Amino acid sequence: MTIVVGVTGGIAAYKAVSVIRSFVLLGHDVHVIATDAALRFVGAPTFEAISRNPLNTDLYEGVSEVRHVGIGKSADLVVIVPATANTLAKIANGLADDLLTNTILATTAPIVVAPAMHTEMWQNKATQANVQTLRSRGVTLVGPATGQLTGSDSGPGRLEEPEVIVEAALALVRKPSARRGRGASASSTDESARLSRRDLAGHRIIVTAGGTREPLDPVRFLGNRSSGKQGVAIATAARDRGADVVLIAAHLDVPVPDGLETRSVSSALELQKAVTDAASGADVVVMAAAVADFRPAKLQEGKIKKDDVGEGLQLSLVANPDILAGLSAGKRPDQVIVGFAAETESDPQALIELGRRKLKRKGCDFLVINNVGWKTGFSTDDNEVVVLDSHGDIVMEAAGSKTSVADRILDVITSA
Ligand code: C5P
Repeated sequence: MTIVVGVTGGIAAYKAVSVIRSFVLLGHDVHVIATDAALRFVGAPTFEAISRNPLNTDLYEGVSEVRHVGIGKSADLVVIVPATANTLAKIANGLADDLLTNTILATTAPIVVAPAMHTEMWQNKATQANVQTLRSRGVTLVGPATGQLTGSDSGPGRLEEPEVIVEAALALVRKPSARRGRGASASSTDESARLSRRDLAGHRIIVTAGGTREPLDPVRFLGNRSSGKQGVAIATAARDRGADVVLIAAHLDVPVPDGLETRSVSSALELQKAVTDAASGADVVVMAAAVADFRPAKLQEGKIKKDDVGEGLQLSLVANPDILAGLSAGKRPDQVIVGFAAETESDPQALIELGRRKLKRKGCDFLVINNVGWKTGFSTDDNEVVVLDSHGDIVMEAAGSKTSVADRILDVITSA
């Protein structure tokens, strides 16, 4: 396969060398296009030696061969690593002022970009708007990861690990729907771009979302602050990618989009029945709902009266069944079961360790870990997640809108 690797000018450019080397060692014909800024970080001889091909940099070299179009046309896959905020902005706006951006405009191959920049630049509204534009046009983003940045700071913006970029890029071209249609209109709407990526067609996916309510008496319940936004985003993204989706909804704070078969539930026991009934015919179950671990031992027939209980009220609770653990234990070998872990642990390493312990208890295929607190996780439009596979290895880290995180989670599931 012919892979064009675009390298832009960030300190992470040195990691592009590992990506190029992996593609070459896997037998691919790799052609590197480095921007002028990239060459301030890594020298041309390194790219030429590692890629085993001449380096491409200058728009005005080889003009008679029309190289600014030819390279893009010959590509089966284009990977930009690292992608700076500047390059993301240029390609989102269709600018073509160097060889790399001309190539991006000329190619119909799948495009993968691995952004790397400081957290402030990544979270800047302009960058986020550009990222949304790129995603809506079918460009695949890998990362950025969250971690140590160039200075002493850390946060979202770190280049994803080279092996993750290589795997994600190759997984994309393995999909039958990967190659974008020649002449695809740059004015495609978000919706049509999503609908054109039907890699989940023929798959039945169950998604639970929201938070259960455990009744105490006819008017009161024990509940949680889950809004259901992330679960609904996953269900919506799965529908857009062609899946047959059943959304099991527990008290959502968000509207349910059209085209989603929805079953409303209230308590953990109701959710268990709904998901167990639906799971037998499903290929994938995503347990995004916040399910209460305990419920009141006794449901009071009438409203609990203050006069009857005095100054303090002691509640007796019993454990709810662990639905996720039950689904994982009884799953078919071809089913994929995904659990969520919402934790208040702020130390990233300790958070992952908590996730690993939870994964062992639950036995699911993937666990999506996210940090929640008074201001994070629940009800917000953005999320930051780390996904572990069944061995406890990190297979994906994503930060961004719940919609973009949903697509990244589905990418992990489709590559399973
Ligand atoms: O143990 P914890 O509640 O943190 O586990 C979270 C994951 O387990 C979520 O995927 C949630 O949907 C699921 N869960 C469950 N049954 C319970 C509690 C949680 O399936 N009783």
